[in-house]
This record gives sequence, C-alpha cells and structure tokens, in this order.
Amino acid sequence: MEKLVSSWGNNVKSVPESYIFPPELRPGNNHKIPFNTSIPVIDLSELENDHHRFQTIQTIVKASEEFGFFQVINHGIDINLMKETRNVMKEVFEMSDEYKRKLYSEDPLKPCRLHTSRPTHATDGNQHLWRDYLNHPCHPLEEWQHLWPQNPTKYREYVGACSVEVKKLASRILRLISEGLGLKCEYFDKELSGSMLVSVNHYPACPEPSLTLGVSKHSDPNLITILLQDYVSGLQVLHHGQWIAVEPLPDAFLVNVGFQLQIISNGRLKCSDHRAVTNSSDARTTAAFFVAPLLDCVIEPAQAFIDEHHPPLFKSFKYKDFRSYYIAEKGDTEVVMKSFLA
Ligand code: OGA
Ligand code: NI
Repeated sequence: MEKLVSSWGNNVKSVPESYIFPPELRPGNNHKIPFNTSIPVIDLSELENDHHRFQTIQTIVKASEEFGFFQVINHGIDINLMKETRNVMKEVFEMSDEYKRKLYSEDPLKPCRLHTSRPTHATDGNQHLWRDYLNHPCHPLEEWQHLWPQNPTKYREYVGACSVEVKKLASRILRLISEGLGLKCEYFDKELSGSMLVSVNHYPACPEPSLTLGVSKHSDPNLITILLQDYVSGLQVLHHGQWIAVEPLPDAFLVNVGFQLQIISNGRLKCSDHRAVTNSSDARTTAAFFVAPLLDCVIEPAQAFIDEHHPPLFKSFKYKDFRSYYIAEKGDTEVVMKSFLA
C-alpha cells in the first residue's frame, strides 16, 4: 500500500518531499527536547486516603488549568491489559499490504477505517504526516465492536476490554474534576460524555525527524482525551509559547482537556495545543480515546461559573455544529475558538 507510511517508511533513507514541512512549521532541533517534569503524574490510589483525597483533586484541577494535561498512575486498569492492547494495536500496522488494503478507506463517514497522513489540521499546510491510523467508535461497545477488525484475532477482545475500562476511568476523572470545580459530581455523566472514539496512531521510525511531524499542532475537539502510550516519546505540548515534551510512561494514561471542557468550565480549564514528533530509532504506537458529547447535546458554560462578574465567555451550540465547523476549518485553534466566543 504505497499510501501508508507503515508500508514503506522503514525502507527509505530520507523523507519524501511531500512530507517535509516548511522551515517555520517543522520541528527542527525541537524534535529532541528533554522531558518536562512539570506536567504532573497523579497517583489515583491516593484518593482512597482521606487525608490525600482533597489534595489529589486539587492537583488534577490545577494541572487542567495550567497545562490542560496530566498523567495518571495506579488508575485501576490492569497493566497486563494495557500491554496486550498495545501489542494487538501495533500488530495492525505490521499486517500485510493485502490486509491493509481491505481496511483502508478515504471515506470519513466509514465507521471503522485505516487511513494515513492526509493533511487534517490547518497547521499541516499541504504536507503529509508521518502517521497511519485506525479509528472507530468504541462506546457503547455492543453497538460498534462487530465493525472492528477481526484480525489480529485478539483485537476485538483486548481493545474492547480496554475501551470499557478507559471509559470508566474517564468518568471517574470527570467526576473528580466536577468535584474540584464545584459542579455536581454527575455533571458529565450522561450526554456530555455519551460517546467515545479511539484513534490508534502509528508513527513509524523516521529517517529525518527534524523535517516532518506525526501530528501537527492542534487541540482536541472533544470533551476529554485519554491517551495510551508506550515507552517511546513523541508528544509535545505548547506551554506559554514553548514546546515541552511529555515523558512516555507505559503504565500511565495521559489525560488532556478538550475544547468542550474548556467551554463548559467557562475557560477555567485549558485545552492546549499539542503535536507528535517522530524519531529515527523507534516506531511509536498510541491510542487516543476521545470521550465526546452526543452530537445533539447542547454545550455551554455551566451556570455554576456564571454570575454578574463572570459573564459566559462562550456561546451555546450543539456539539455537532462545533464538530462540522472544526472539520471545515481543519481544526485551526484560533479560528475555531474565536467563532464560539460569546
Ligand atoms: C491525537 C493526538 C498524540 C499522540 O490523536 O489527537 O494528539 O501522541 N495524538 O499520538
Ligand atoms: Ni490530539
């Protein structure tokens, strides 16, 4: 499959022209920056200790305000399930070209498809990205699982089990955020977090990581994202105008605030721009679980954050209208944000 980087990326000594970003957009020397340790790693087992519970919730809220990112460990999801899920996801990209051809589609409406580096964000210009991905909905499981790949043979089993656990983890985190912000604890429980999609991203090792990107600068359009990483680094977050590198912790999940959570919190929580860089020695596979509102759900700043001194900063809209606009504007953060300001 000549379109998929995973089919030829390992055999080239240089990056093809169409993958080279203009100098101002390429990572350059920033493809290799030291890990930033200020993005907190939060131990969720501390929640069981009455003395530490309050502090843990405060740390989650503070990280969501300051970075829009944090990692969680001791989250209750079986480490072995995480490992098996990663393995079966990696296998997808090692399958034959014949297999990939059947799964590949250019139709964005197809619920389960393998796809590649077509520019999707405003910040890619016309460049291709050094990434292939498989995406499909994963909640409610019964509705979607039969559409997923039947090969690798354990794909449905592991990804299904992991999706159920990740959805529970997301709900738990949303309840903690609600508590920390002073919303009623079940605020996000129903329609606001009613759907979940997974994007299994695969970034093959790249001969010239300074010239290209795996994912260009963007913010996630959904409510909250839970990212399963392996031990290979690549994710960078834009913080006060500087790119900072996130340490990959294979036993942790990385959590990030999406546009909808920023809007509902009336700007208190921050959805930060981020990107993925490649590296020359290791392929990297991640799974981004995008928890999102149902399409007809009305999104607006929660009443709890609004009074005469704090007017709503954002309009009220249907999530599906936001999604269409985000896609039409190729996820350009500034343009999208501006048009949903009150
Ligand atoms: C995404 C994303 C980052 C990564 O899929 O939205 O930001 O490290 N992925 O794979
Ligand atoms: Ni993202």
